[in-house]
Amino acid sequence: MCGIIGYIGKERCQDVLINGLKSLEYRGYDSAGIAYVTQGKLFITKEQGKINNLENLVKKTKSSLGIGHTRWATHGIPNKINSHPHKQGKITIVHNGIIENYDTLKKDLLQLGYEFTSETDTEVAAALLDKLYKETNNIEKAIVLFQKEIKGAYAIGLIVDDDYEHLYALKKASPLIIGLGDNENYIASDVPAIIQYTSKYVTLNDGEFAKISKNDIVYYRSDAKEIKKKVNIFDNDEASCGKNGYPHFMLKEIYEEPETFKNTVYPYIENGSTSLLEKMPDFSKYDKIIITGCGSAMHAGLVGKSLIEECANMPVLVEIASEFRYKKLFIDDKTLVIAISQSGETADTLAAVNIAKEKGADTLGIINRKDSSIARATKYVLYTKAGMEIAVATTKAYLAQVSILSLIALNIAMKNKQIMDSEIQEIFENMKKLPVQIDALLSNQNESIIKNIAHKLYNHDHIFFIGRNIDYALCMEGSLKLKEISYIHSDAYPAGELKHGTISLIEKDTPVIAVVTDEKIADKTISNIKEVKSRGASVTLLTNDLLDKDYDCTDYKIIVPNVHKLLEPIIAIIPLQLLAYYVAILRGCDIDQPKNLAKSVTVE
Ligand code: F6R
Repeated sequence: MCGIIGYIGKERCQDVLINGLKSLEYRGYDSAGIAYVTQGKLFITKEQGKINNLENLVKKTKSSLGIGHTRWATHGIPNKINSHPHKQGKITIVHNGIIENYDTLKKDLLQLGYEFTSETDTEVAAALLDKLYKETNNIEKAIVLFQKEIKGAYAIGLIVDDDYEHLYALKKASPLIIGLGDNENYIASDVPAIIQYTSKYVTLNDGEFAKISKNDIVYYRSDAKEIKKKVNIFDNDEASCGKNGYPHFMLKEIYEEPETFKNTVYPYIENGSTSLLEKMPDFSKYDKIIITGCGSAMHAGLVGKSLIEECANMPVLVEIASEFRYKKLFIDDKTLVIAISQSGETADTLAAVNIAKEKGADTLGIINRKDSSIARATKYVLYTKAGMEIAVATTKAYLAQVSILSLIALNIAMKNKQIMDSEIQEIFENMKKLPVQIDALLSNQNESIIKNIAHKLYNHDHIFFIGRNIDYALCMEGSLKLKEISYIHSDAYPAGELKHGTISLIEKDTPVIAVVTDEKIADKTISNIKEVKSRGASVTLLTNDLLDKDYDCTDYKIIVPNVHKLLEPIIAIIPLQLLAYYVAILRGCDIDQPKNLAKSVTVE
């Protein structure tokens, strides 16, 4: 949610800021701005819309210090005035996060004579910093006092008018990294903004801040005591941030799914059962699991619930993270709370982890980003190895989350002796074959079947997904993918629930996508398909080659290979991701950056 970038060093500041913002655009893209210093003066340029609009406005000049921001609006509409940077007195800042007590602070600052042009909490933060700087005449002291007064989340890049030799960075509960170059240094919300310039970086913990010059960085604790920080090196998978010839990141990321599966799963099975048992926490300590997450991560949790309950006989609840804190959940030290998050920064999921910890539960993160807030907050972490995911709609990271959950289900089943050795071997064999099967599913032939179905769907206003149990969980994800990138209204229903109301919406040619991959309930779902078919629906059936029969109730079919039930949801989601992609293409949508969304939701 919002991307920030800062630079100090050589005379290429504007280029670094604009390029950095372009690669952070997935974090928010309703307006953008930069502040840069040239010939001893600070200039601010901002514009509504995407970075290209801003780039066209920027007057090219040599500059070696600046900060930039791409916005996902929280306080105030997305317009030029509300976009960052914001300047008050001698302080200019860019900010990612939400200042919760900005209203009270604003009232006090208004009384002191500060005037505000925007509706943002960020301008209030800039004014508070300016006031504290005036009072202390020392920016480090001002930052210490500021951090005490401010409630909420922030990652801030800051320039002080009295000192154009330094750039400052501070953070709490919003991501921020500092990139280390040669006679130049950077700050950024995320890796893609700086990976082309440096592989060395430092992460700040909450409350810490940094004073950055072109050839030195001083790190401080929240009370301004100097500290040393460890320098990290970006992983190779973090280094690959381009489209590699694909028209969109989303398509590239779908095509990376075989590799994602291998990278995520194979380290756990390299020595068969031994590595799977050794590389995971001991789940036998717990008598129940609660999985939490938002959006697709929560849908992965629903699939995980089915797999763990079905194969390992352990009870699992799934709670949407934004609801977690408002529910009376029965959590104690025998509960494991699993938080799923690609970014590791989703505010609601982080809040749920903290509540779970307060209530005495152990916590486990299934996280894609190393060093992220949730990875640091949870007791155990199992990393998904999806690499950078840039498209706002998640595909490969979701697939990796489900893959880890199926490994957890297998691990618990093995420990609980719920599964025979021969079946374990069969699963390992299936896991070895799965990447090739996914590759085949992504072949031209299958792609053209899906493109053809997309043609039948793209000009409809409403599309329904139906399925039972684990297939319903897949429907929820397929439906979310479709609506978020194609803007077609779409809903997922448990197939048996249709006739309790929703079936009244089915009329001639209403598209219904039915998912049938679970043998146990296939017949029941087929009966529900017949119910919608006889009311005129146009039915697309997604099933596997074991369950594929000559049904007379379907118009189109997508067939995936039949694999072990622990792996079936991994392969079955891929056609639904592709379908959403091709429908959105036909509707001319902005695939990688759908409207109103952002990749990392760091506000509650
Ligand atoms: C949908 C999507 C979102 C995210 C959700 C959680 O395609 O990407 O629903 O899954 O915002 O994000 P993370 O996994 O970063 O916590």
